[in-house]
Amino acid sequence: MTTTPHKRPAPAPERLGILLQGMGAVASTVVAGVLAIRQGLGEPVGSLTQMSHIRLGKRTENRNPKINEFVPLANIEGIVFGGWDIFGGDLYEACTHAEVLEPTLLAKLEGALREIKPMPGAFDPNYVKRLNGTHIKPGTRRDWANALRQDIRDFKAKNNLDRVVLVNCSSTEVYIEPGPVHQSLEAFERGLDENDSTISPAMVYAYSALMEGVPYANGTPSLAADIPALLALADQKSVPVAGKDFKTGQTMLKTVLSPMFKARMLGVRGWFSTNILGNRDGEVLEDPESFKSKEKTKLGVLDTILQPETYPSLYGNLYHAVRINYYPPRGDSKEGWDNIDIFGWLGYPMQIKVDFLCRDSILAAPIVLDLALFLDLAQRAGRKGIQEWLSFYWKGPMTASGLYPEHDLFIQLTKLKNNLRHMMGEELITHLGTEYYEYPSEGSH
Ligand SMILES: NC(=O)c1ccc[n+]([C@@H]2O[C@H](COP(=O)([O-])OP(=O)(O)OC[C@H]3O[C@@H](n4cnc5c(N)ncnc54)[C@H](O)[C@@H]3O)[C@@H](O)[C@H]2O)c1
Repeated sequence: MTTTPHKRPAPAPERLGILLQGMGAVASTVVAGVLAIRQGLGEPVGSLTQMSHIRLGKRTENRNPKINEFVPLANIEGIVFGGWDIFGGDLYEACTHAEVLEPTLLAKLEGALREIKPMPGAFDPNYVKRLNGTHIKPGTRRDWANALRQDIRDFKAKNNLDRVVLVNCSSTEVYIEPGPVHQSLEAFERGLDENDSTISPAMVYAYSALMEGVPYANGTPSLAADIPALLALADQKSVPVAGKDFKTGQTMLKTVLSPMFKARMLGVRGWFSTNILGNRDGEVLEDPESFKSKEKTKLGVLDTILQPETYPSLYGNLYHAVRINYYPPRGDSKEGWDNIDIFGWLGYPMQIKVDFLCRDSILAAPIVLDLALFLDLAQRAGRKGIQEWLSFYWKGPMTASGLYPEHDLFIQLTKLKNNLRHMMGEELITHLGTEYYEYPSEGSH
């Protein structure tokens, strides 16, 4: 199946700026990781843009280039990092505090890491109750937006960059529902002027990025660009946005296992997911209001995949619970347990137990890199607004209003790769497969 390409992406820039909102465990692991990879000290494991190949054409054509040789992506050699945090210091200190990467590796990167110093963050303690930021911007929400926009311009000028992407790697904010100030750009602008407290810091960063024409990705479950006011702004400024909440450990597994149950028409009675983690993210998520934001994106996936309304006897009574417990001894090395009660033929019960001893930031870092590179590509291909083709990376993928999100990891991967093929005017791959066999043609018997 061939398609007319939407617009071929413009050539990749030699240098790309990646601004990180929040420079904690995930962000510092991305930065140190990219520096290490550049020096040949590690491999970009987990990154599609760096490692994955993409099949083109028929299976008999043997065309299988690497993604970064097929589409014009910025090269990691030319990436420049910057960002904000509500604690000062530098990225070497952030890496040391996060305790994700080995001190011996960090020692080799110390000089370059120390050069990156977070700019003061835009912070309201009512949105992240467990943290007391000391490195923060003064003034009202309008002042924050002006200062953040100036930071973006200064970062571009100082590093001689034409293109920049912003990825939100900041602490999870408390759960909020969109209110009147979020409904239109006019109301939002007024809210900034009036320092309306229902505008969260995450929204101010997203607004500032969009105003500067900078693609924006939300790696957290916080409400940010996913409000009508900012989606209208993304459209107006022709900027791509994507979110939300990186799909890394437990939810990645959930979106692989649950499609399997549904594919085989196996029932699910219960799914109990629990986590212990001891990093700052875990500490913030101890606050019930921040946890509620996380719970929403974590719980959402099963209903959409299993469709209980279509299959009430298989999934109608599913009990689904997610717990997160802060347990300091574990640091960034999380343990996620899943107990899944399934049933088969004639309703006979079975159980599956998954114990995933993972590393949160190690799983999240390649996602940040991929998103930054793909969002930059999307903008050069003339795409704007919600980038649903990047659903692959999200626990709660943003979609156009009225559409349910696609959560199945492998459908998401097919969607992503077909979008790349489409962008480059290549044949889409439907997996129909009839071309390899002799079938009677239409009209014959
Ligand atoms: N690691 C994963 O697997 C994973 C998966 C999905 C989502 N996330 C989300 O990514 C985010 C980052 O995770 P992490 O483990 O790096 O957490 P972290 O606590 O180590 O880092 C977050 C950083 O954001 C800073 N911060 C808080 N409010 C800020 C503000 N208003 N402006 C600027 N900086 C601010 C904090 O000081 C901290 O340094 C969290 O929201 C987490 O829920 C992580």
